[in-house]
Amino acid sequence: MWLNISLIVFLLSSHITISYSSSINNNKIPKSDVDLLEFPLNLEFLEAEFFCNSVYGYGLDVLEPELAEGGPPPIGAQLALLDNLTRDIIIQFCLQEVGHIRAIKSTVRGFPRPLLNISKEAFAQVINSAFDKPLYPPFDAYANSINYLLASYVIPYVGLTGYVGAIPELQDYVSKKLAASLLGIESGQDAVIRTLLYEIKEKKVLPYTITVEEFTNRISILRNELGKNGTKDEGLEVPIYLGAEGKVSGNVLAGDNNSLSYSRTPEEVLRIGYGSGDEHVPGQFFPKGADGCIARSYLHTTPT
Ligand SMILES: *[C@@H]1O[C@H](CO)[C@@H](O)[C@H](O)[C@H]1NC(C)=O
Ligand SMILES: *[C@@H]1O[C@H](CO)[C@@H](O)[C@H](O)[C@H]1NC(C)=O
Ligand SMILES: *[C@@H]1O[C@H](CO)[C@@H](O)[C@H](O)[C@H]1NC(C)=O
Ligand SMILES: *[C@@H]1O[C@H](CO)[C@@H](O)[C@H](O)[C@H]1NC(C)=O
Repeated sequence: MWLNISLIVFLLSSHITISYSSSINNNKIPKSDVDLLEFPLNLEFLEAEFFCNSVYGYGLDVLEPELAEGGPPPIGAQLALLDNLTRDIIIQFCLQEVGHIRAIKSTVRGFPRPLLNISKEAFAQVINSAFDKPLYPPFDAYANSINYLLASYVIPYVGLTGYVGAIPELQDYVSKKLAASLLGIESGQDAVIRTLLYEIKEKKVLPYTITVEEFTNRISILRNELGKNGTKDEGLEVPIYLGAEGKVSGNVLAGDNNSLSYSRTPEEVLRIGYGSGDEHVPGQFFPKGADGCIARSYLHTTPT
């Protein structure tokens, strides 16, 4: 049965090698696809190190060092104080990310782990920007499960919109298959994070007097501002016209007027990941910038 399916896939594909081995077969994949597939490695590295370090106290350097390829260790990685359910889920997310990095790197060459800043200060800075003022005490992403889920809300969704944006631009069967499969899990992670937060959306995030839903709304508004390309991000509670079919304000998943996923270009993803609103100006989670052809093309050019 499996053999038959493989054979059909083999025959239907315009490409000779559909390799499931670890050999890099990017010689068959057009350069534009290679660039688009390497780009999300930046976010997958960020997610892997963030999730793994917070549950295990270590990341790729222990779990699968060859994937990190000697890239510098992440700044400010630490264990998070999580309840059992959250820890259980984040362990799974961590391991899923390891698989994602392996899958991308066995299709395209990729690059070593870039320098990442996942310190609580980096997350506090995102939150301060979202509220347009410093919170006191500073937000600590690692202090408890609610804070950790809010910090997690910051990342996989951006990856999701990036995959939605990349897939229509991909040429090759192998590239599309990989990106679609990554998108599936990435959007699942986002849905899990959003659902857990949705259940407690009216709770106050201590010690502040601000609710969980307000945090998500502010973070999403900030991302729309940084992305500089309209509304592509929505919190857990939206004005009714933005909800599904313009009929509800509850917003467990973000979607456009037809409840289709929003898409972002690599430029928009960089503006958000750098926290600078400018793909030429690295910072926040990527102090020295992201890697790969697309991101690097902006690093040594002047902002427009
Ligand atoms: C959490 O897990 C630990 C270790 O598995 C267990 O000892 C503890 O009772 C669990 N806590 C709750 C609240 O279920
Ligand atoms: C990490 O981010 C924090 C908050 O922005 C910043 O204070 C710190 O200097 C950063 N570390 C590095 C090495 O860039
Ligand atoms: C803005 O978003 C639209 C729709 O997603 C996209 O086609 C366009 O390329 C984006 N523009 C920039 C500058 O990223
Ligand atoms: C979505 O619907 C709202 C309200 O009906 C409208 O204001 C907005 O322009 C629509 N957006 C798009 C992209 O069609």
